[in-house]
Amino acid sequence: MRTIHVNTSAAYDVLIGEGLIDKCGELTAKVVRPCRCLIVSDDTVDDLYGDRAQISFRYAGFDARRFAFPAGEAHKNLDTLADILDAMGEAGLSRSDLVVALGGGVTGDMAGFAAAIFCRGIRFVQIPTTLLAAVDSSVGGKTAVDMPFGKNMVGAFHQPSLVITDTDVLRDLPALQLSNGAAEAIKCGVLNDEALFGLLASGDWLEQIDEVVARCVTYKRDVVAGDEFDRGDRAFLNLGHTFGHAIEVCSGLKLLHGQAVGVGMLMAAAVAGCSEAMIRRLAACLKANGLPTRCDFDAQALARAALSDKKRSGDHITLVLPEAVGKCVRKKIPVIDLPRCFEVALDMQETLEL
Ligand code: GLY
Repeated sequence: MRTIHVNTSAAYDVLIGEGLIDKCGELTAKVVRPCRCLIVSDDTVDDLYGDRAQISFRYAGFDARRFAFPAGEAHKNLDTLADILDAMGEAGLSRSDLVVALGGGVTGDMAGFAAAIFCRGIRFVQIPTTLLAAVDSSVGGKTAVDMPFGKNMVGAFHQPSLVITDTDVLRDLPALQLSNGAAEAIKCGVLNDEALFGLLASGDWLEQIDEVVARCVTYKRDVVAGDEFDRGDRAFLNLGHTFGHAIEVCSGLKLLHGQAVGVGMLMAAAVAGCSEAMIRRLAACLKANGLPTRCDFDAQALARAALSDKKRSGDHITLVLPEAVGKCVRKKIPVIDLPRCFEVALDMQETLEL
């Protein structure tokens, strides 16, 4: 088992290894004295892993109950948040108790937000069951729900007490879910880690998934420790996300986050003026991981959708632009320049026939 220590305002460990789901209670008991806890999942993950997690927590001395909500990004809203808070109240949780987020990014974000506001903040543990949650959303303490006016528009910073990633669970994921998470791992490679990018570009990394997760978490740990509250360099983690957010919105949230972020990274490379070789290298890496390399929405629609991005700050938005694999820069632009950026990116798709 690997341990990566995250040194934020509330410090915690990220544990990565095989078979950890059956030890999650015992591992949690090392950092949280056994108490009452509510394990929150969506109904798909609850069916797959709810029993095993609950048995482990009970065996370790926790009074563990479960709550499951319907799976899907469409349920990441205030109604589901209220249901989670009601379940916490009905389970008799108090300020010294614990929430366990067992699932992907939607579950982690919502259960984490519920923990952030219940009794003005109680502890929570993340057990990510998707690659995307393991390499990105379970670490760093961002919690949120979607609103009719934008994704993740209401939320809080609330660091978990522990993150437990079972790599056997990740290896069992369907190919589409692995692709979705691979996009965030490729992002870490483009930002900072050429060796990780090379491993991912081979398309043959499932046997080394612990290495992929550990490298991404280590990089994110370093960024978050330097800028926990997202006022500076944490914005680097948004590589591909401004363009990707617009693509996701234009697709009616039918495209998965990672699929949109992958195309978004290519668009960022085009706007950065990267060489054809660099763009083709990135496109080949996305393809090797089953990710799309183009989108067919028009520039005006994409620019309009980008305005609903919470990363916008007044009339400006900060883009993260790759210069090479392993090196990116931040550039603040006026939002009126966004249509032109999307035009450049869409032209690149056509010219290179991606
Ligand atoms: N997922 C980007 C961040 O945590 O800042």
